[in-house]
Amino acid sequence: MSVQTWLRHARRSLLATGTTAVLTLALLVGTEATSQAASQRPCDLYASGGTPCVAAHSTTRALYGAYEGSLYQVRRASDSATKNIGVLSAGGYADAAAQDGFCAGTTCVITVIYDQSGRGNSLTQAPAGGAAPGPDNLAPATAAPITVAGHRAYGVYVAAGTGYRNNRTNGIATGDQPEGMYAVLDGTHFGGGCCFDYGNAETNSLDTGNGHMEAIYFGDSTIWGSGTGSGPWVMADLENGLFSGPNAGYNANDPSVSHRFLTAIVKGAPNLWAIKAANAQSGGLSTYYSGARPNVQGYNPMHKEGAIILGIGGDNSKSSSGTFYEGVMTSGYPTDATENAVQANITAAGYQAPPLASSALTPGARVSLKATTTCCNADYLRHQADGTVAISPITAASANADKSDATWIVRPGLADSACLSFESAGAPGQYLRHAGFQLRTASSDATALFNRDATFCLRAGHSGQGYSFQSVNYPNRFIRHYAYTGYLAGDGVGGNTWDSDALWSEDTSWLTAQPWS
Ligand code: AHR
Repeated sequence: MSVQTWLRHARRSLLATGTTAVLTLALLVGTEATSQAASQRPCDLYASGGTPCVAAHSTTRALYGAYEGSLYQVRRASDSATKNIGVLSAGGYADAAAQDGFCAGTTCVITVIYDQSGRGNSLTQAPAGGAAPGPDNLAPATAAPITVAGHRAYGVYVAAGTGYRNNRTNGIATGDQPEGMYAVLDGTHFGGGCCFDYGNAETNSLDTGNGHMEAIYFGDSTIWGSGTGSGPWVMADLENGLFSGPNAGYNANDPSVSHRFLTAIVKGAPNLWAIKAANAQSGGLSTYYSGARPNVQGYNPMHKEGAIILGIGGDNSKSSSGTFYEGVMTSGYPTDATENAVQANITAAGYQAPPLASSALTPGARVSLKATTTCCNADYLRHQADGTVAISPITAASANADKSDATWIVRPGLADSACLSFESAGAPGQYLRHAGFQLRTASSDATALFNRDATFCLRAGHSGQGYSFQSVNYPNRFIRHYAYTGYLAGDGVGGNTWDSDALWSEDTSWLTAQPWS
């Protein structure tokens, strides 16, 4: 007997047998409803709301309860072979073990992020555009590890220079047609350049004028718009402008948001648009703006073209950074109720930062940190007698003083015990810190500033190798070597020569090695 037939029978008996059975049926119906709800994914919710997904991208999970195809494709460096990475079960989570097996002993990049909507709107390596040459870089496949519902998965780590695009799409809004979009991002990974975006852009990779884009922007650029605090902000990239609210420039209702997992929403319809955001791990959405189009020529009506971008601006501006886990674009302007249901589905998915267990980096351990860039992969992070920090080759034949200056004692982070500090083995009591964005060693003066400058949070290596060390007080800057010297560097942003985006991922990735002393 089918569940439906059984329920019909049960309902008939209930009428005859009274309230105890009513309660029993309520429980059974409730159980069925719960299990249906459990298998719903964001695109099922958008479809129920009458605004179906026309593009659905994720490297972490299925975005339809019934989706059992590939999520993304990786290519390995050793032989250029590719492999599609699917889900563990229909509607389920990424099969990260398949990637790990395929990429073992080599490195992989993400070559395709498949469209789950069935419209073929997959994302591949972005071509050259008006603002920058191409093709853009591809994301290292292991640089953004996370867990989702306890399953290991990988996000799309966009360093400056990385970008994905589809200029020949199907079903994406054009002109002034209504659309919605959300993305789940790493709110601690951002840049100030133009433009880490996900959404609707030009089909020729050129800046074709105001209103030709409608995309989620995340970062701390203040070139066109900003909100309260120092950023990062969720804004709408509408072409030739990042809008944080009704006015060009500053809007007081757009707050800085940096949840480790961030839900960002932008949607637009004729003379109507909105920005919303939320913590993707708990709680509901906040609306930062909902109202009329900007009072600037070209944005009402809109002139959307319907290409899809990830990690770049409409004209392939690629000097910003961020991390993407999942996102969709819809046909039609989703209701708030639908978006609330989607946010509940995202929080229920259980995104978590990964345990980056490494016995080499356990407080109390001694460790040496080896550079990974090809120029310098026999070099170690070390300080000099005058406290400046550099990289240099260390071998068994090196002087003992050099060996100890290239050895660090791992300490709980002075400003945050969930992060790390590094005490010099060669100069006990002296800690690795930044000052003026240059690395040096110095004795603690016990100030809050010293503690923050000397605290670094462990992240997966940006190049896909080893670890990267994020400053606790400048979260978009990391320990880097540049011209053989140690710095705290942003990815193409910061204004110093050592913030160059060239080789940034490699220069900020370090291997742990046996301590030299
Ligand atoms: O709107 C901001 C940026 O301006 C767009 O992303 C880019 O196409 C242009 O440079």
